[in-house]
Amino acid sequence: MRKFLAAIDDEGDSIKSVLMFALLCILEAISFTRKDGQYLRWDHRSGRRQGTKIFDKGVIPSFDSAMRAKLKEIVSDLTENATQQELFPQNIKRGEIRLLRGSCLDLLPKLQASSYDCIITSPPYCNRYDYTRTYALELALIGVDERGLLDFRQQMLSCTVENRAKDLIGLNPKWSAAISAAEQQEILQMVLRYLEDQNERGLLNNTGIPRMVRGYFYEMACVIFECARVLKRGAPLMMVNDNVRYAGASIPVDVILSEIACELGFNVEKILVLPTGKGNSSQQMGAHGRESLRKCVYIWRRT
Ligand SMILES: C[S@@+](CC[C@H](N)C(=O)[O-])C[C@H]1O[C@@H](n2cnc3c(N)ncnc32)[C@H](O)[C@@H]1O
Repeated sequence: MRKFLAAIDDEGDSIKSVLMFALLCILEAISFTRKDGQYLRWDHRSGRRQGTKIFDKGVIPSFDSAMRAKLKEIVSDLTENATQQELFPQNIKRGEIRLLRGSCLDLLPKLQASSYDCIITSPPYCNRYDYTRTYALELALIGVDERGLLDFRQQMLSCTVENRAKDLIGLNPKWSAAISAAEQQEILQMVLRYLEDQNERGLLNNTGIPRMVRGYFYEMACVIFECARVLKRGAPLMMVNDNVRYAGASIPVDVILSEIACELGFNVEKILVLPTGKGNSSQQMGAHGRESLRKCVYIWRRT
């Protein structure tokens, strides 16, 4: 791979981007790891110490064969006669795609008000997943070092116990309405009081949980505020999210966020719930028994 990276440096910018994109696509497949929920799991061939269950991710293709297959796939996707023609072809309007790099907390306030027809989003869940771990391979490839990882995690929406509180009003004074919506959300405040109380009694398995849960909902309130600002009247927002459970208490993320959304300019049209809920962590099950948690898609509409 080192040889490949050195060689693509001599290529023009567009060829370099396609090759880097292909490399990002195959990175996990050719590695000794696999994304597994919150972590990267190490295959036994990595030489790393294994737990009681040995993990074998199956065939690990060579760099050359994986790269060749991926480039072939890209070429076939882009070749017109490879795409199936419709029986009754329609003129499909293609929108312009703009990828914005950065945190939504910085980017959303820069977008034009009342200018979007729809938002579809899959934000982090309040579940302690650390995306700097999940994407460790990709981040290493683009040269993010240990310090960079820590900064990156702090910039992301709070969903790990390591996140420190963000100064939301300092970031954007207009967010006071969002913060007051979170402040007045009764279930959220009850959950926060319960978690603080459990913390004081030493009953939480991590003392950062109340701060994380608070940060998550207050930051999400600011995101919802910005989504309401940029959407046109009557435009829908769809969000996928799961409920979570800490210290035995199920947190109805769907209800809390939907009520905050109502305060900030949305109507809740539907909360679609998957027929099979999510199980609990072994720690929660051991201490508090099993309770299925809702996995949902919220459909809100800008009023
Ligand atoms: C539940 S995952 C959604 C993944 C996505 N559906 C996909 O298939 O890649 C949440 C994503 O939000 C990203 N994220 C976290 N904080 C963010 C922020 N402040 N701004 C933009 N994205 C953020 C995470 O890195 C993660 O990729």
